[in-house]
Amino acid sequence: MNVESLVRKNILKLKPYTSARGDYLTGILLDANENSFGSVIDEFQGEELNRYPDPNHLKLRKEIGSYLNVDSKKLFIGVGSDEIIDLLIRIFCEPKTDNAVILEPTYGMYKVACEINDVAAIPVMLDESFQPVIKNVLGSVTRKTKLVFICSPNNPTGNVIDSKIISDLARSINGIIVIDEAYIEFSEKPSLINMVNDFSNIVVMRTFSKAWGMAGVRCGYCVASLGIINLLYKIKLPYNMNKLTSGMVLKAIINYRQKDKFVSAIIKERNYLMQSLNKIPGINKVYPSEGNFILFECGNATEIYQKLAREKIIIRDRSSQIKNCLRVSVGTREQNKIFLDELRNAL
Ligand SMILES: Cc1ncc(COP(=O)(O)O)c(C=O)c1O
Repeated sequence: MNVESLVRKNILKLKPYTSARGDYLTGILLDANENSFGSVIDEFQGEELNRYPDPNHLKLRKEIGSYLNVDSKKLFIGVGSDEIIDLLIRIFCEPKTDNAVILEPTYGMYKVACEINDVAAIPVMLDESFQPVIKNVLGSVTRKTKLVFICSPNNPTGNVIDSKIISDLARSINGIIVIDEAYIEFSEKPSLINMVNDFSNIVVMRTFSKAWGMAGVRCGYCVASLGIINLLYKIKLPYNMNKLTSGMVLKAIINYRQKDKFVSAIIKERNYLMQSLNKIPGINKVYPSEGNFILFECGNATEIYQKLAREKIIIRDRSSQIKNCLRVSVGTREQNKIFLDELRNAL
């Protein structure tokens, strides 16, 4: 597919800002109006904080790339996947003209990021097993559709989207298919990262916010064809990744076994929570989950949500998206027990 033909003309024409640290990272650095005397904070993990960070994220991309076994040139690093969602919209969607298809119910930021950019978000409902219906998606795609957001495992439904449906859509749509794998570590199904080698119009997003337990650090990344990665580097803010975030992520990758331990513990707790929820009278349905959360249905969901909040048990009311549904993140055994007790009381 000719990805370039999908890009906004002003972005194609754009002469990107050339940042000083993009040219040189070492030497007697008198090029960026930094403080040559130092920083009020000496250093962070050996990094001089008076100097701007590497705008090309070379070290981070190398380490993430070798951890994932992905060519580092096919990686873009963002301030969470949320930054990447916004950048993709800005690269491909002409405000007031183009649109993005969003498979609902799903993660709310796709729609909000579209609205911020004055890009129409076209909702297409998933079927009753929360899978996309190809004919409905294709029926909603227009010549102005530049992006299709697919969240897998999907938030808040918890299911993985059928990879055959995704490849069929990628083949049939003259637009970019964005697969958001924020929760993939909690699933037994494989990541679709390798699909970017076969499809120039697929972008797979991942994040350090969930399995790695680094939501406060703000780092997400995506894997895509070189053309798309170059466009992301062309338009991002020059120094989007700060040295503190990069340093923490590099440390996390060395410590990846801790992430694996978290994933096993969370899956174990998810099973416990699932079994326990299934036994509670008043809960009509518990949806299977391949994420670190569970969606369940009970009558008067909003009232239950409010009752729990009064007891300082904070879950998410998703009833505006899926009738009578609440979403609970998997907690520790202690947190889960308190939640289950309070939920029984509330019901
Ligand atoms: C599906 C999905 N994608 C992306 C994000 C945001 O990730 P990040 O913290 O990397 O911006 C979330 C956060 O809840 C999410 O649920």
